[in-house]
Amino acid sequence: MELTHIAKTVMEKRYLRMKEDGTRETPDEMLRRVARVIAAVEEKYGASKKEIRAVEERFYQLMDRQDFMPNSPTFTGAGTALGQLSACFVLPVGDSLPEIYETMKQAALIHQTGGGTGFAFSRLRPAGDVVRSSQGVASGPVSFLRVYNASTEAIKQGGTRRGANMGILRVDHPDILQFIESKADITQITNFNISVAITDAFMEALEKGTEYELINPRNGEVTGKLSAKLVWDKLVENAWKTGEPGIVFIDRINRRNPNNHVEVIEATNPCGEQPLPPYGSCNLGSINLANFVKNPYTDRAEVDWERLGEVARTATRFLDNVIDANKYPLPQIAEKALRDRRIGLGIMGWAEMLVQMGLPYDSEEAVALGNRVMTFIKQKALEESMALAEVRGPYPEWEGSQWHKAGLKVRNATLTTVAPTGTISLFAARPDLPCSGGIEPKFALVFTRNQAGALMLDVDGQFASIARREGWYSDELMQQVADRGTARGVSGVPEKWQRIFATSHDITPEWHVRMQAAFQGGDGLPVDQQPVDAAVSKTINFPHHATVEDVGKSYALAWQLGLKGITVYRDGSRASQVLTTGDKT
Ligand code: CDP
Repeated sequence: MELTHIAKTVMEKRYLRMKEDGTRETPDEMLRRVARVIAAVEEKYGASKKEIRAVEERFYQLMDRQDFMPNSPTFTGAGTALGQLSACFVLPVGDSLPEIYETMKQAALIHQTGGGTGFAFSRLRPAGDVVRSSQGVASGPVSFLRVYNASTEAIKQGGTRRGANMGILRVDHPDILQFIESKADITQITNFNISVAITDAFMEALEKGTEYELINPRNGEVTGKLSAKLVWDKLVENAWKTGEPGIVFIDRINRRNPNNHVEVIEATNPCGEQPLPPYGSCNLGSINLANFVKNPYTDRAEVDWERLGEVARTATRFLDNVIDANKYPLPQIAEKALRDRRIGLGIMGWAEMLVQMGLPYDSEEAVALGNRVMTFIKQKALEESMALAEVRGPYPEWEGSQWHKAGLKVRNATLTTVAPTGTISLFAARPDLPCSGGIEPKFALVFTRNQAGALMLDVDGQFASIARREGWYSDELMQQVADRGTARGVSGVPEKWQRIFATSHDITPEWHVRMQAAFQGGDGLPVDQQPVDAAVSKTINFPHHATVEDVGKSYALAWQLGLKGITVYRDGSRASQVLTTGDKT
């Protein structure tokens, strides 16, 4: 493994474990530990010692070559007393005090293990509704959202990361307007992302310009009506202001869930890429696409389909094993995980693959290739899942599923997800070949960093190596790129590379949405041909001067192109932005 400086630092701080002799394991020992624990599962399915060793070596190679990385909890949890390996959970919130507080406790236990939690607050009766036992009035979903937020604030996540949550409310809940405004003050509810669950009935009302009904979940009674346009406009305006709430198209999510014969999905995990039923969980892992280009940077550049296919299959086996190696935080979660055997194989390093292929992110060719690559990975994951089903059996809930109806005997209810890969993309990055998270474009090519009073240039490894190789690298030029926040329009950079090195702010929101759609796949695809079974993590970036109407157009396009959800971010709309381009820090 060839790690960047930052990857080493992150690993040392949070991922490498203390060994029994009191010294810290090395990154290589960490990979060995994970490979050993995940391969050991094979014994359960009749593998010999020799076969297990061979599988362990394959798993180790996947990670050591930086071709594939499992989600963070698998690194921090494998072979430990906690032993929790999944990143994503959804818990139900029932409409009674004992249920509300029980779920809050369960979430705390999950956060301790490094997992993130999503909740729908849609079953809670609205604020001001009757509470028979106390003769009082209900405080409603938004107040309990605040209580959950405070609980998360009070605990740290397993020493590894702080708790992350997703809070969801159906658009037909009577408290929807209050919910939409709940994060207008950006200093509030900071441990939650929030999203509105948009129904088909709402979209129909929006298209027709009519009102839609609000329903009290306690008794199913219609409590009033709202103009769909009014609610949509408020949503869009708040998203423009602060990036929140996002939206998820909940009926579409359920229609396209291969496992929809046994469950109803009402929420997603914190970053939105994994819609899950109550007590659902999922372990994720991502392939580093930057490693799969033959003849990179030449006219003969092509995807190494053969090796990509092999890695996708081994990774699928790895993720299926994780389900058995996992120690689940709750019995209800263990039961559901073992009945559905959900996995989420995804990708990262898409931006770096495109540069090697010579394709700008904002081009028809790139969008077409994105769809092709993800459909191919899905196909290979499906082949492996079917091969596993032959030996290990299909997942217990398989009968009646969309897979079953299509005549496909599979081991896993869902196979593919595009995660943000916030940390594991760092582990996959090499000094000269970075790895951007998920399907995101490069955020910037040159950052300026203030190191002990001196301004240092931090140049994207791919950009720097091309510039050096072709002889146009200079500190002055890199400074110009840093100041502009893009290579486009910087005359010292050859025109070809100005186009190819597209950064998130060069790319219009429409291209961002179209790329997300290319990976997600639209409505009406057969279950084996939808590239992503779960969903795609993506931020649709807007420049600071974008208008509310611009954001509205992206939300509408998301619906048209078959996205399961959308999250936007307008530059500078939140005070504490982690990454900034241009201005020196
Ligand atoms: O790269 P890494 O495996 O650490 O995670 P990611 O791909 O950025 O995020 C995947 C999922 O992990 C998120 O959607 C959350 O469910 C969970 N997560 C979390 O619980 N807390 C965080 N600080 C980051 C991610």
